[in-house]
Amino acid sequence: MATMTAPPSDKAEIVDIKYPFTDLVARTSPGGRYIDAPSDEESPWIPFGDNAAIKHIAFDVRQNLFSNILWVKSPGVIGTHFHRGTIMMVCLEGSVRYLEYDWVATPPGVILETPGESHTLVTDHPQGCKLFGWMQGPIDFFDGDGKFVETTDVFWFMNHYETYCRENGLPINEKLYL
Ligand SMILES: [Fe+2]
Repeated sequence: MATMTAPPSDKAEIVDIKYPFTDLVARTSPGGRYIDAPSDEESPWIPFGDNAAIKHIAFDVRQNLFSNILWVKSPGVIGTHFHRGTIMMVCLEGSVRYLEYDWVATPPGVILETPGESHTLVTDHPQGCKLFGWMQGPIDFFDGDGKFVETTDVFWFMNHYETYCRENGLPINEKLYL
C-alpha cells in the first residue's frame, strides 16, 4: 500500500470513523476544548510584577503542566530561572531573547527549553513580547545574587489564577483545568 502523501479526504463534513473506544473516551478523557484567549472573558490578564502579566490557558495536575500567555509589556527582564521540565513557547508578538543564547525570537518563532537549563529572559522590543507557553515541570526562580527564591509549578500558577479571581470577584473558569 502506498504511503499517504496528503490528507485522504477534503470533504467538509463530519465523518464517523467508528473508533471502538468512544465510550471509554467519554468516561475518562478530560476532553479537548477551545480557550478564547483573545477575549478576557475566559481568562483575564493577571499582573506578574510591574511590567508583565499572565493569561492562564491550562492546568494539568497529572503532569505538573501549565499553559499560559506571558506578556512583558515593554522592554524588560524575567529574571534568571531554572527548568526541571520541558517547555515549548511560541513568540506571538514583539521579540524576546535570553542573555545566555545568541538568538532573538520573533513571531512565530518557537522556543524549546529542556530540564537543567537556567536562563534570563530579556525583551528589547518597544512593545515587549507576548509568548504562548506549554510548560511542564517546576521552574525555580533566583534573585540577582543567585540565591534561590521560589519554585513555580502547576499549583503555583493555579493559585496565581484563583487568588486574582477571588480578589476581583471573577468566576473560576473550569475550562482551564484539564
Ligand atoms: Fe525558561
